[in-house]
Amino acid sequence: MVAGKVLTVGEVAERSGVAVSTIHYYEEKKLIKSWRTASNQRRYDRSILRRIAIIRIAKQAGISLKEIKYHLDRLPQEAISREDWQQVSQEWHEMLNERIKSLTQLRDNLGGCIGCGCLSMADCPLRNPRDVLGQDGPGAQILIQAKPD
Ligand code: FES
Repeated sequence: MVAGKVLTVGEVAERSGVAVSTIHYYEEKKLIKSWRTASNQRRYDRSILRRIAIIRIAKQAGISLKEIKYHLDRLPQEAISREDWQQVSQEWHEMLNERIKSLTQLRDNLGGCIGCGCLSMADCPLRNPRDVLGQDGPGAQILIQAKPD
């Protein structure tokens, strides 16, 4: 390592604004890496700060650590470039748009359920989203399909 680029866990915490325990947790989840000195103390490359910044942004956007790891694993371990971040942020932008669309649809469908309580497989849009059963034909498909021949 180049002198001056190596940080202790306390320095990473101070510069990133993340608690030491959170840094250890990210490491346990293999989102970040460190190495040990001869006296068994953790050391981090300074480039870890950019990686932690990305993790924090993603968490604020509601992206799970599993999804964050999936994307970070595809990036260089050291020195995430501006282009790398642009690629990942574009993918997350598209993923968040899909989630917003899905949640908006769920919210709109939920409106019909308020005060209903039927939870009917045939009528409730939340139990039968996109009328999957309706693709099998008209009528009460559950009853039709359950009927012995
Ligand atoms: S609970 Fe009746 S329509 Fe959803």
